[in-house]
Amino acid sequence: MITVKGDKAPLFILDTAHTTYAMKVLDSGHIEHLYYGRKIHMDSEDGLTEQHEFAPGTSVVYSPDHGNFSLEDMRLEMSSYGKGDVREAFIEVVNSDGSFTSDFLFDSYSESKGRDGGTEGLPSSYGEDAEVLTVTLIDKENNLKLELIYCVYPDTDVITRTARLINEGEGDIKIKKLMSCQIDFDPDNYVFTTFTGAWAREMKKTDMSVSSARLVNSSFTGNTSNRANPFVMLSKRGANEEYGDVYGFNLVYSGNHYESVEKSPFGKVRFLSGINPTSFEWKLSKGESFLTPEAVMTYSSMGYNGMSGQMHDFVSKHILRGPWKDRLRPVLLNSWEASYFKISESKLLRLARKAKEAGIELFVMDDGWFGERNDDTTSLGDWFPDTKKLPRGVKGICDKVRALGLDFGIWVEPEMVNRESGLYLAHPEWAMEIPGKKHSEGRNQMVLDLANVEVQDHLIKVMSKVFSSADISYVKWDMNRNFSDIFSRSLPADRQGEVTHRYILGLYRVMRELTKKFPDILFEGCASGGNRFDLGILSFFPQIWASDDTDAVCRAEIQNGYSYGYPMRTVTAHVSDCPNHQTLRRTPIETRFNVASFGVLGYECNLNDMSSNDFEAVKAQIRMYKKWREVMQFGRFYRSKSMNDSRSVDGDALGAPGYSVLDQVPGNDISWTVVSPDKTKAVSMTMQLFTHPNTQWGVLKPAGLECDYKYHIEGRKMKFDVRDFGGLINYVAPIHVKQDGLSHRTIARFYKMNSEAEAHDMYGDAMMYAGVHLRSAFASGGYNENMRYYPDFGSRIYTIEKIG
Ligand code: GLA
Repeated sequence: MITVKGDKAPLFILDTAHTTYAMKVLDSGHIEHLYYGRKIHMDSEDGLTEQHEFAPGTSVVYSPDHGNFSLEDMRLEMSSYGKGDVREAFIEVVNSDGSFTSDFLFDSYSESKGRDGGTEGLPSSYGEDAEVLTVTLIDKENNLKLELIYCVYPDTDVITRTARLINEGEGDIKIKKLMSCQIDFDPDNYVFTTFTGAWAREMKKTDMSVSSARLVNSSFTGNTSNRANPFVMLSKRGANEEYGDVYGFNLVYSGNHYESVEKSPFGKVRFLSGINPTSFEWKLSKGESFLTPEAVMTYSSMGYNGMSGQMHDFVSKHILRGPWKDRLRPVLLNSWEASYFKISESKLLRLARKAKEAGIELFVMDDGWFGERNDDTTSLGDWFPDTKKLPRGVKGICDKVRALGLDFGIWVEPEMVNRESGLYLAHPEWAMEIPGKKHSEGRNQMVLDLANVEVQDHLIKVMSKVFSSADISYVKWDMNRNFSDIFSRSLPADRQGEVTHRYILGLYRVMRELTKKFPDILFEGCASGGNRFDLGILSFFPQIWASDDTDAVCRAEIQNGYSYGYPMRTVTAHVSDCPNHQTLRRTPIETRFNVASFGVLGYECNLNDMSSNDFEAVKAQIRMYKKWREVMQFGRFYRSKSMNDSRSVDGDALGAPGYSVLDQVPGNDISWTVVSPDKTKAVSMTMQLFTHPNTQWGVLKPAGLECDYKYHIEGRKMKFDVRDFGGLINYVAPIHVKQDGLSHRTIARFYKMNSEAEAHDMYGDAMMYAGVHLRSAFASGGYNENMRYYPDFGSRIYTIEKIG
């Protein structure tokens, strides 16, 4: 709800179900930020507004009429450079006279209802219930108008912000920097959490104390990047998964982004986010306007899980769109790790037949099907089938896959071109490179200049042709390099600073047109895995390939990272072969599934080469997943208490003395729970990295259940290979069995070990707060079928159903 009090110098109060955001126009015309956090009662600014009698020493006083304060020591709704606020600014422009001081003062405001999902080329959140407040400020001396646009989503406790700058003067100006969001917090001890990484190790959570040195999370790779995801958190020191003040921030944007936080000399904490000003500059001529991407903010007093739940809800309801938004996602098999570039119709069909037998629903032909693409040096841009591999083209293989009873999907990388391609020969001017200068490449490819409308038109045309060339129901849209040598031949020299943003606007136009034209295709975003995992892409594509790393251990951490800001229905995850192709690590087939099933499940392995044991396991996994996927894809996700966690968050051993160094490994245990909206069903997962010796104890504490519901909890049945016990088999075998010898292999073929039967009937609160005390784990000294075999990389899934 938006409440406005007063006319000339209004007080604005923005309420969601559990949060309040408030600001007030000062006598000087600046806007003071009063508060953002837990919902409070307020009908005036009394007691909330800052009180100043004299400006601090060596500070600049804004004007003699307002001699009692300096802008440097005020919490501001937006800040500009040159009138005394020496902190990092929200806006920096070069005025038509060359000066770079701005002074934006309140002019007016307006309110409206509803938001439709995008304007001026940018996608945005949407919803009929959205309440919109536009506060207009004017820099009179420079003839500039600045609109601060707030959008309130009461149901998900989210408020969004955007800014629009309008040049009302005669001369051109340059925007050097225009942020989307600024929050000035009262002094407190904050922790800034970022999710950084690189290829195959995305979303590493890092906590940093906020102090006087500026902390910056940003990308200037051309995409949002795996180096630094735009989702960040600010929390008050001491917050944990269940309790404490946590703010989550994100941007509805897919290009270079910037988030910074710093403590001023007066202790106030400023958070800024928006387009990265590095390598950005925008010329704004008379009458033109510039709109920033939408910034998303949420706050919870219920710790990280509380904040994540709100973000998940918001993304699911107000960012994802189209027919696939709430549709159950199919279980797919992707050909990449099974075949890489070495594909052919017969090879793919063999894989598809096996996929059908396993219960897979969608077969995806990845890279290698077009031009003369036998490796990554050639053919991007030539989007016609290689008839040596696919004699009857895409339609030929698609029809055959469909005849098996599977849906068919395809891989494309439309934004790129190889120098060795027909497209580059025909249109070298469409590739981004600086004329007459040497060019640097990534993965042997160049970025197409999507700032150029001709290139956008071409992509819409050529992709429409591919997507309608057969009965295609899924598209994986890849993007495999970072930008370099940024230049658009379609723009004059004084507009080259606009290229990266114009590229993203061009990309959005192409995605918008194609998703409109092919509404029933399930699109999956990808950029070498998670190099462009953001809310801009999710405004068009409902799911994104989270990482090229399919190792279950790495994936557990990567998916855990994504879960802070993104609902798991947007995070795709595949079971792959072992040794894993990225790490060469061997993890149990069941652990690979248990982890992947908490994202949108797929397989990316050679099912034909799989052992019969593993193949049987896969069949059982898919059966289970189909039964539970509605809960797993659309339920509320929680990072729950680790199963065997003997450490405090700081890594001190809390358990028995004499614990080994392995106990100090952070994140040794991971546990997730996902709960259906009506709380009648849930699924919990536990996984560990390394076994604690001589530790039989294990307690599961699922989260999010209804306290007074009675539930039945049951461990998913799994089979294990007796060879996992090595020579210990001789404890029970009547004859000596040579480890890994013929008799050992024969026993393994005919005899499978069942996982322990674990089943209890308990109330929700008992499970969550007292915990489900599990079967004792193998800890040497004996083994029987009631024991929990839980080795390194071991894991379990427990299903939970209401029974009363
Ligand atoms: C990228 C993707 C992979 C695969 C390859 C194909 O690396 O992330 O999943 O599609 O491209 O070249």
